[in-house]
Amino acid sequence: MKGIILAGGRGTRLHPITRGMSKQMLPVYDKPLIYYPLSALMLAGITDIQVISTPDDLGGFRRLLGDGSDLGLRFSYVEQDKPRGLADAFLLSADHIGDSTVALVLGDNIFHGAGFSAQLRQAAADVDGCVLFGYPVRDPERYGVAEVAADGTLLSLEEKPAHPRSNLAVTGLYLYDNDVVDIARAVTPSERGELEITDVNRAYLERGKARLIPLGRGHAWLDTGTHDALTEASQYVQTLEHRQGVRIACVEEIAWRMGFIDQEACHRLGRALSASPYGQYVMEVAAAG
Ligand code: G1P
Repeated sequence: MKGIILAGGRGTRLHPITRGMSKQMLPVYDKPLIYYPLSALMLAGITDIQVISTPDDLGGFRRLLGDGSDLGLRFSYVEQDKPRGLADAFLLSADHIGDSTVALVLGDNIFHGAGFSAQLRQAAADVDGCVLFGYPVRDPERYGVAEVAADGTLLSLEEKPAHPRSNLAVTGLYLYDNDVVDIARAVTPSERGELEITDVNRAYLERGKARLIPLGRGHAWLDTGTHDALTEASQYVQTLEHRQGVRIACVEEIAWRMGFIDQEACHRLGRALSASPYGQYVMEVAAAG
C-alpha cells in the first residue's frame, strides 16, 4: 500500500502563526505536527509515502524529512499550486499510486489510542473499496459526517452539513483500493470550488464499497484547526508523555519497532538529536532494546 500525506492549504484560521510557515510544521509539544499523521502511515506498515504541499512550503518538508532513507522509508514530494480540495491528491499522486492500494492522511490530523495501529494494519491488509474512520464529536457540522445503521452499515455521507444526521465525523485518514484515481477524476468541484473527498467516498458508498470503522472512547482524534485546539493537542501529548515516559509519534522509535531500521540505526538517529530530550529518548529506547 502506498501513502499520501496532504500538507497543503494556507492555514488561514491560524493566522498570523501560519503566515510564515506551514501549519503542518507547527509544534505539537515536542515535534512537528506532520510527525503524527506520518506515524499513522508508518504504523499501518506503509513505507512509500508522497508528501503534497504548496510551492512555498515543500522545501521545508524536504528539509525536515529528506528522502526518508534514515527511517527506512521512501519519501517523494509533489507540489499543489492551488488548494483544489482533498480529492486533488489522487490526481497529483496518480503516478505514485500506480496500481497499488493507497492510504491518504491529512497532514494536520492526530490519531492516538489503544489498539489503533493493529486496527489500522488489519484494515490496510484487505482494502476492497474504501475504509473510513469515524469519531464522535460535539460539532459534526465542521466535518464530513457519516450516518451509520445499528448493524454498522454506512448509510450516508455529507460534507459539513448544516443539520448533521449524526455526531460521527469522518476523520482525515482514508484507505482506498486502486479505483480511487478514476473515481477522483470524475469528481467535479463543489460549491466552495473544491474536489471534495466526501464525493469520492460517496461514489464508493453508491457502489456498496464503503465501510466505516468507528473509533470510540479510548481513542483521541485531535483537531489542530484553531489556536485553542492546537494548544490542547500539545497539552494532551505533554500530559501523556510526562506521565508514562513514552513519546507519542516518535518516528525514529516507530521505524525501529516496525522493523524499517535496526536498533543501531535508531540509536544513531537519536544521537544526531541528542541536544534535545527527544533525541535522548530515542537513544534510550534504542539502548534498552
Ligand atoms: C476535511 C474533509 C472532512 C473531514 C476533515 C477531517 O475538512 O473535507 O470531510 O471530516 O477534513 O479533518 P477540511 O479540513 O478540509 O475542512
